[in-house]
Amino acid sequence: MDRLEIDGPCRLQGEVRASGAKNAALPIMAASLLAAAPLRLARVPALADVRTMGRLLADLGCSVRQDESDPGGWTLDASALSSCHADYELVRTMRASILVLGPLLARLGEAEVSLPGGCAIGARPVQVHLDGLRALGAEVAVRDGYIRARAERLVGARVVMDQVSVTGTEVLLMAACLADGDTVLENAAREPEVVDLAVCLRAMGAKIRGEGTSTIQVQGVGRLGAAEHRIQPDRIETGTFLAAAALTRGQVCVRDTDPQLLEAVLRKLRLAGAALRTGADWIELDMGGKRPRAVDISTAPHPAFPTDMQAQFCALNAVAEGVGVVTENVFENRFQHVLELSRMGADIRIEHNTAVVIGREALDPAPVMATDLRASASLVIAALAAQGTTVVNRIYHLDRGYERIEDKLAGLGAAVRRVK
Ligand code: EPU
Repeated sequence: MDRLEIDGPCRLQGEVRASGAKNAALPIMAASLLAAAPLRLARVPALADVRTMGRLLADLGCSVRQDESDPGGWTLDASALSSCHADYELVRTMRASILVLGPLLARLGEAEVSLPGGCAIGARPVQVHLDGLRALGAEVAVRDGYIRARAERLVGARVVMDQVSVTGTEVLLMAACLADGDTVLENAAREPEVVDLAVCLRAMGAKIRGEGTSTIQVQGVGRLGAAEHRIQPDRIETGTFLAAAALTRGQVCVRDTDPQLLEAVLRKLRLAGAALRTGADWIELDMGGKRPRAVDISTAPHPAFPTDMQAQFCALNAVAEGVGVVTENVFENRFQHVLELSRMGADIRIEHNTAVVIGREALDPAPVMATDLRASASLVIAALAAQGTTVVNRIYHLDRGYERIEDKLAGLGAAVRRVK
């Protein structure tokens, strides 16, 4: 299993380009199942989760082609969609496979998708997805570990979601596009990835209004057609590089990104003492060599501070001046990085869903590992501030969500090696 060896301490300096967003690419790839026509995508990130989604789509009978000249260019064509069965073997490796549920049901009238199991960061139920499909007229049952959904034609309805769920909103949005009549999704997730999906669906011919607000309106259409779409920049990858720059007292410009996607994160970085400058598609952070100040964080659905940046800010607080109180409100078990950061000498106490982080001048190197993606990212950036060589094990989690992270960090001056 690959690991990363990181020699600290270092001060990150230079420019880095953001990749396309994993959590936008996955639902948009699933959306290709809605049309019997090609969907050409640009800026699809080269990630393990994206490859898994590609395999799942191919399994369902969708033609999946990656451009030879442009590694981020994919053409997905579900003209010959032949199966409605998403198998356990693929779903168990990636929970986001649940995204195919809505499109399969809408297009074929039935879907059989393995129920995603437990997850390292929390229970992660999919009740919102299932109740919403029932509200659109589907019969939905869970049997033998599979979600079995049927509906000759989905019928538009007003759906009030019990919880704000990102993939729940996306599944229902995709299903509603081909439903008979109008759908109103209430208590919808407002995450930028939902907006990117809506933009792509609209390019395919869907009639959608209100994405980015908590009420999304969809007027069902008979069919969707061919389209082209460029995946939005990854706000979490962008935020991870900015947090790394702040924690190493460095100066980094992230290009090909969008500052509007991460306002809550930028606000906290300013409070941490960073000087920030932004343009339409870049963000520059300069710590002027200063140690960051600790910041309090409380996670919640967009536009509040994202849970996917919580672990990285624990790492930032661990070397900051002062005490940072980090409250995780979205997932019940998302503090796995804390024990590993403690092995690097971080001073962190957990009480219920709150981590109290007392900053130290520097961290110690140690062998560490994590069982989820963002926790792994926090260990990598913490290692940049450690006094010696840290080994981050089990980095297949990182490969699920960060494109060539070691090359990008090396481009900013970090000494990072991947060891096979
Ligand atoms: N929830 C319920 N019932 C449901 C659905 C969700 O109670 O039926 C709860 C969850 O337990 C959780 C909260 O609602 O407490 C939010 O869960 P959500 O459904 O929004 O999460 P998700 O759609 O499974 C996506 C991202 C996650 C990100 C969360 C929150 C994708 C593929 N995944 O997950 O990304 O953390 O939204 O923003 O979009 C990551 O990239 O590292 C990652 C975990």
